[in-house]
Amino acid sequence: MGQLRIDGNRLWGRLDELAQIGAIPETLGSSRLALTKEDGLARDLVVSWMQQLEMKVSIDAIGNVVGLWHGPDTDRSLLPVMTGSHIDTVRSGGRFDGNLGVLAGLEIIQVIREQNISTKHPIAVSFFTGEEGARFAPDMLGSLVYVGGLDLKTALKTTSVDGKRLGSELEDIGYNGTSPCPGIAPKIFLELHIEQGPVLENEGVDIGAVENVQGISWTELIIEGQSNHAGTTPMEMRKDAGYVAGRISTYIREISNKIGGTQVGTVGKIDLVPNLVNVVASKASMTVDLRNTSEQMLREAEDCLASFCDQIAFQEGVEITNKSLARFEPVEFNQQLVDQVISTAENLGYTTRRITSGAGHDAQMLARVCPSAMIFIPSKEGLSHNPAEYSSPEEITAGANVLLHMIMDAAEVNS
Ligand code: GLV
Ligand code: MN
Ligand code: MN
Repeated sequence: MGQLRIDGNRLWGRLDELAQIGAIPETLGSSRLALTKEDGLARDLVVSWMQQLEMKVSIDAIGNVVGLWHGPDTDRSLLPVMTGSHIDTVRSGGRFDGNLGVLAGLEIIQVIREQNISTKHPIAVSFFTGEEGARFAPDMLGSLVYVGGLDLKTALKTTSVDGKRLGSELEDIGYNGTSPCPGIAPKIFLELHIEQGPVLENEGVDIGAVENVQGISWTELIIEGQSNHAGTTPMEMRKDAGYVAGRISTYIREISNKIGGTQVGTVGKIDLVPNLVNVVASKASMTVDLRNTSEQMLREAEDCLASFCDQIAFQEGVEITNKSLARFEPVEFNQQLVDQVISTAENLGYTTRRITSGAGHDAQMLARVCPSAMIFIPSKEGLSHNPAEYSSPEEITAGANVLLHMIMDAAEVNS
């Protein structure tokens, strides 16, 4: 059993086929924002693969999909061992973020079936709705609902950045399922994912055992000033929403550097009204993404932002309102599973290190209801949320092999 390995070519082939849906021309990347037509087509493809593997597919009311596999001697009354991730992408996404975790799960089921391995526990492979949060906030929305962290009614009413209701978008692609939501807590949850940062590549390490995930704070700020003529309005008479958005953006960089440590801060979106060359902007809508592994430091960053907004609104004669789009505290994964990622990888001949996740993941939601952990593999030049995101076939194979052996161990192979 220790010799068992996944088929890296087959996994690579599925990643490539899935990436063709919403493919970004002349890149390796994909654009499949949650619950768009492309997301729907990608879901159909992955579900068809689950069906080919004779998995029982269930869809819940927020569109999370779970494929359940059991062998002839599996005790179906036992809790499943679950793995999975997401197949939605940001608008300019790569082909590995999320997709790897789901397709590696299918590859594992295929290997187990081909080898006529029977496990005591069923094995589930899931993909969760709207992990990216790029179209519907918060991020990890589907897995948050799965674990009961957000009620279904509220989630279905969420409005997208393009003004659509989540519930009706889900219906349009046919993924408003009937399985109970919150879903069952599995025995354990394991997620294989690309690192999306530079640490493993820089250190030449094959496998990261993820110990924890940073806390995440997303805020939308609306700045209301007054539009006026760009040529005639004296500088001291302006209520310039565009200027204030720029100042806030600069402040986010300064405060993140000042707090230091793991603090990061990003202004990823600014929309100006009326957005014209010769008009002082009357309105700016912008987002702020703050993250830190320390809840206390994250609060400090949030407090600094709030004070700065008060101060600049007063100085510049604008109004600033804020709305929280996402707020998750830092998460620690199950220590025993983290240790097991290390020992499993080392037994397979891979080099390892413990690592923190800077990105949000479905596993951090599942950690609320069952022992959970993550396996990271290197990302080329630390790039992600970028069509150039890349991990090699060897790196992907290594990660999936670790996942295979951890899943078989947790599902308890029948001798
Ligand atoms: C979600 O994947 C995030 O970390 O932004
Ligand atoms: Mn992801
Ligand atoms: Mn992502």
